[in-house]
Amino acid sequence: MDLEKFLVEFRAESRKIKNKEDRENLRVKYMWRRSGVVTKITDKIPQVPRKERAGIGTQVRAFRSEIEAALSKMSSTENAKGTSSPQDVTVPGKIAEIGSLHPITQVIEEVKEIFHALGFSWVDGPEVESDEYNFQKLNMPPNHPARDTQQTYYIDDKTLLRTHTSNIQVRYLEKNKPPVRILSPGRAYRRDMPDATHLPFFYQIEGLLIDEKSSMTQLLGTLDYFVKRFFGRHTKVKVYGHHFPYTEPSIEVEVFHPSKGWIEILGAGMVHPKVLENSGIDPNKYRGWAFGMGPDRLVMLKYGIRDLRILYNSSISFLNQF
Ligand code: DAH
Repeated sequence: MDLEKFLVEFRAESRKIKNKEDRENLRVKYMWRRSGVVTKITDKIPQVPRKERAGIGTQVRAFRSEIEAALSKMSSTENAKGTSSPQDVTVPGKIAEIGSLHPITQVIEEVKEIFHALGFSWVDGPEVESDEYNFQKLNMPPNHPARDTQQTYYIDDKTLLRTHTSNIQVRYLEKNKPPVRILSPGRAYRRDMPDATHLPFFYQIEGLLIDEKSSMTQLLGTLDYFVKRFFGRHTKVKVYGHHFPYTEPSIEVEVFHPSKGWIEILGAGMVHPKVLENSGIDPNKYRGWAFGMGPDRLVMLKYGIRDLRILYNSSISFLNQF
């Protein structure tokens, strides 16, 4: 029995293996219990002449283990290479999460769009501001009672976190001459305890128009137009007199919400001559109007949100709805 001859053959054949199927055929050829090469050899042992039989069992076992080891090595390298299943095309795909703009950003963009069509551009103002631009130049000298309503975060005697976006008014007018039509959205800060309708920081959108012939009726018409564009044509709007040191006369605007009643959304008025003067603009030649609205409030009204805090807690299940 020439086991050596079979081994040489086996080695030659195994070098030609290209895939799983070839290997399976090779395994069947040599290891098949019923009539594989190994079985045939084993079956022949009894016919081997007695004097040649010594040690034959050991040789056949060695032969068999070499083939087994070679086959199992082939199968493990195949698996490592992944040739048996290069890619499972039936695995369901991963759904890509698509983000969206935060509802406050969406509302600010919408307000900008509406005013853009009316000729307004937009500018940024500093959040860390001086007392001068946040208060004094807006006709609120030190100890002015109106300062009490704006719980201010002071950084030092002269520096603070702006309590409103109105700081942009004098800053912008000092550098730009009329006619002026700007919006300035951004954050403002006040020392408020957080609750459903107050937070220590919030957004405002400041609007400012200065030219030679603007009027209170133009302001009222513009705000009415804005509210109807933003909330819908049939929205009810209420305007009533108010007081701000930097406007004269001053008004507040409320919008009717079906379940909440009247909600204030903005303060506005004709820019006070002192503010124009403080900005180096001749109040006898120029006049204008301004407003400051709360986009947080607009979001709450538009989407029926009851608690302001949910807008700021980054809850994905909430934000996914927008
Ligand atoms: N600054 C005011 C506030 O924070 C809002 C405001 C009122 C802004 C009247 C204005 C204005 O420009 O003219 O409540």
